[in-house]
Amino acid sequence: MSSVTKAVVPAAGLGTRFLPATKATPKEMLPIVDKPAIQYVVEEAVAAGLSDVLFITGRSKRSLEDHFDRNVELEAALAAKGDQARLELVSQATDLARIHYVRQLEALGLGHAVLCAEQHVGNESFAVLLGDDLIDQRDAVLPRMIEVQQRYGGSVVCLMEVEPHEISQYGAAAVEATDEVDVVRVTDLVEKPAVEEAPSGLAVIGRYVLSPDVFPVLRSTAPGRGGEIQLTDALRTLARDGSGVHGVLFRGRRYDTGNKLSYLQATVRIALDREDLGVEFRQWLQDLLAGAEK
Ligand code: UTP
Repeated sequence: MSSVTKAVVPAAGLGTRFLPATKATPKEMLPIVDKPAIQYVVEEAVAAGLSDVLFITGRSKRSLEDHFDRNVELEAALAAKGDQARLELVSQATDLARIHYVRQLEALGLGHAVLCAEQHVGNESFAVLLGDDLIDQRDAVLPRMIEVQQRYGGSVVCLMEVEPHEISQYGAAAVEATDEVDVVRVTDLVEKPAVEEAPSGLAVIGRYVLSPDVFPVLRSTAPGRGGEIQLTDALRTLARDGSGVHGVLFRGRRYDTGNKLSYLQATVRIALDREDLGVEFRQWLQDLLAGAEK
């Protein structure tokens, strides 16, 4: 039985890279085929055994709360029609987990968003899943991260090798090998470095298993890049003072749904894999690319 049971899902960012869609809708609510991105993320947390989910929400949170709430009127209408299949789709999000909300009053950064979870999390290790970061369920990494956290203690980040020109969009890690091929010890972290200042091509992506030691460090972390309180800066402090930050190397399929190109890639990939849509959609795409489709 895992001692990590709580998932924190920050979803209070401004989503400026996806304007104008995100003017009144959180980017986490944008659909990937027919399901909001955030539901995939909650399903991933639940599949990893995390049954308690805390959303950190911000402005225009209503659609997000409504999505995980019951819609009694819609349920009654579908039940009256005998539409069991759609009734199940509607109830899925509600029945997934015990869901809680905390509001981040100002978008002061991911570190600040995580700090908003302190009271709910208490003195336990907990997972953080970014609501705009989609990991293909076939490449699930969170169970391995929880296992690594249980073995080494401290905090665990998820690291993915990215192209040199991409590293400046991420936190970059300096690492040392361990006895396990997919686990490294993190010795330093730099938030969004210029390519020549990056300690490696290993980028921190949106899955973390954190020790509660991170809270006091976050409280004393000054605003960093972009005037925001950066989670990377707090983890850097923990990595440098020897409290232990490990990284799990991830090589699977992952999308940043807050980025337009990556969002489109996620939509196409997931649609192609869908039993109900894949065959027809693939044919249409092939025709389109061959110039046969107008
Ligand atoms: P991003 O770095 O993608 O920032 O946040 P953003 O503001 O959401 O989006 P852009 O860059 O303006 O397009 C990474 C994650 O941290 C959350 C976001 O919701 C996202 O899941 N976040 C960020 C917060 O919850 N609060 C914040 O103050 C900042």
